[in-house]
Amino acid sequence: MNTIPVRVAVADTIAQDIRLLKLEANDGSSLPGWKPGSHIDLHLGQGITRQYSLCGPQGDTSAYQVAVKLEPQSRGGSKYVHESLKVGSELLISPPRNHFEMKADAGHTLLVAGGIGITPIISMARELAEKRQQFELLYFTRSEHHAAFREELEGGPLGESCKLLCGLERDDVEEALEGALDDRYDGSQLYLCGPKPFMDTVRAVAVRCGWPDEAVHFEYFAGAEPVGQGEQTSFDLKLARSGKTVTIPANKTIVDVLREEGVEVETSCEQGVCGTCVARVLDGTPEHHDCFLTSQEQARGDCMAVCISRSKSRLLVLDL
Ligand code: FES
Repeated sequence: MNTIPVRVAVADTIAQDIRLLKLEANDGSSLPGWKPGSHIDLHLGQGITRQYSLCGPQGDTSAYQVAVKLEPQSRGGSKYVHESLKVGSELLISPPRNHFEMKADAGHTLLVAGGIGITPIISMARELAEKRQQFELLYFTRSEHHAAFREELEGGPLGESCKLLCGLERDDVEEALEGALDDRYDGSQLYLCGPKPFMDTVRAVAVRCGWPDEAVHFEYFAGAEPVGQGEQTSFDLKLARSGKTVTIPANKTIVDVLREEGVEVETSCEQGVCGTCVARVLDGTPEHHDCFLTSQEQARGDCMAVCISRSKSRLLVLDL
């Protein structure tokens, strides 16, 4: 596992329930370069690993910044960041990875953020503003107090292109989205990030407004339905490289069983969000539960996120 030891240089509350951490390398060296949309893993001890988007100044390698929302249903990650990390705390992080990269040549870009989904989106907005490319940013929050980076978004080079929308009801959110998505410029690209129900609404409006799938780019923060909820059935999994077949029972994931069998699978979020565990499907029909693959990739059925997805067919054969 490739990790970087860092220490917390700054820990600040920047909006209600949102804490910003500035992380510097322990040995004072520069950190690996990154682009808007990148995220890092924070290893928070006791086996807890969480992904957070980098949201500091453009490409800054002297320190990374992440903003973490305290989740009421926290499974330990955000609670730990809010309650236990302080200036001087040491932890391990991963190098940045980017599954949410912006296309370089969009004529116009529409950025949509819901709540803490602003973290990758603000990096994109800064880059577009710096390159003087046309963009519009819609940032939906519960209230003004819940809006992170508010001063920057309301003034300066970002101010002209950003719209802060606070406390809207669901119908008003849809109306605001329809207003922004209705007239699509040729070649326009849409990037969206936020909690799952919000993202589902934006994607549905994009479909209604005629946006093609390939122009809609998204990153989910909350995972899909966890294993154990909903109807799950067991199935057999054949590992093509060893020829071994194992049974995946209803109450376990593919990754759980592979670990028990001593088969190495690289994972990170284990919630179907990050794409680290995606494996090639050689035979059978996957039942996708992830938020990472696009709808076309899911429909093709030739790859799947093994941390969360299952099988519709009795037997699934994976390139593992
Ligand atoms: Fe993140 Fe599976 S480990 S999608």
